[in-house]
Amino acid sequence: MPAQIINGKKISEEIKQEIKQQAEALFNETGVVPGLAFILVGDNPASQVYVKMKGKACEELGFYSITLKLPTETSENELIEKIQTLNSDPKIHGILVQLPLPPHIDEQKILQTIDPIKDVDGFHPVNVGKLVIGLDTYLPCTPAGIQELLKRSGINPSGKHVVIVGRSNIVGKPIANILIQKKEWANATVTVCHTGTKDIAYFTKQADILIAAMGNPEFIKGNMIKPGAIVIDVGVNRINDPNSEKGYKLVGDVHFESAYEVAGAITPVPGGVGPMTIAMLMKNTLKAALNQLK
Ligand code: GUN
Repeated sequence: MPAQIINGKKISEEIKQEIKQQAEALFNETGVVPGLAFILVGDNPASQVYVKMKGKACEELGFYSITLKLPTETSENELIEKIQTLNSDPKIHGILVQLPLPPHIDEQKILQTIDPIKDVDGFHPVNVGKLVIGLDTYLPCTPAGIQELLKRSGINPSGKHVVIVGRSNIVGKPIANILIQKKEWANATVTVCHTGTKDIAYFTKQADILIAAMGNPEFIKGNMIKPGAIVIDVGVNRINDPNSEKGYKLVGDVHFESAYEVAGAITPVPGGVGPMTIAMLMKNTLKAALNQLK
């Protein structure tokens, strides 16, 4: 039996409506409008698209947002100064520096300049540390989106074997930390595979829930998946497609056609994890506004 498709687009729309209502209630009670600042350095085409989509979500929800577009040559110090200005701007509750940054800029130094209370990406070491020890914090948006997709699809990873392929700071490491928490929802046995793993298929075939987040187009094939497994595809890869108007198409880290025949449920690309990431950014921004009420 082919897989059930987990519709991230639809679920994200529901979440955004909930956040919109909560933001309206906040405004009625306090006059505060959640504010988010985007910083985009350079001209990475994918980053430009992402920031535009995130800005559009702010508009939809009635959030205040600004986008600082800075040239590739921007120095580390200039960027730090921009962040410091936003740190002390009361209209701005969240700051998002779109990654990757140009190679002359130290990513960690930049992320650590963001005031942790405004760190809606959850990338500041203070917030990463809180996540690891199970304290309330801003969860990184893609892992938070995966968590919410599973929750709203009635899937609890407790007692299940979750195999994550990819160990990035943005997805692999934080989702592993979320899923191993000793909490009613979570409590999973987690395996993290990466470029140093010898036989990835050996592990992926054991997964009750498989999370593909390594940025390798269509790497996970149907024959690497246990029949009936839940497959969460985090990859967004552009591959050449002469039949498309744009000259490329988007594919995930999972080979959808073969996986669809084996999996119990699967997220599509696009329309799976991507829209959930944006919804979670909105959730974190609302949370940041609440955290900064005087
Ligand atoms: N680049 C890819 N994903 C992300 C993300 O979640 N946040 C930021 N800031 N940059 C990214």
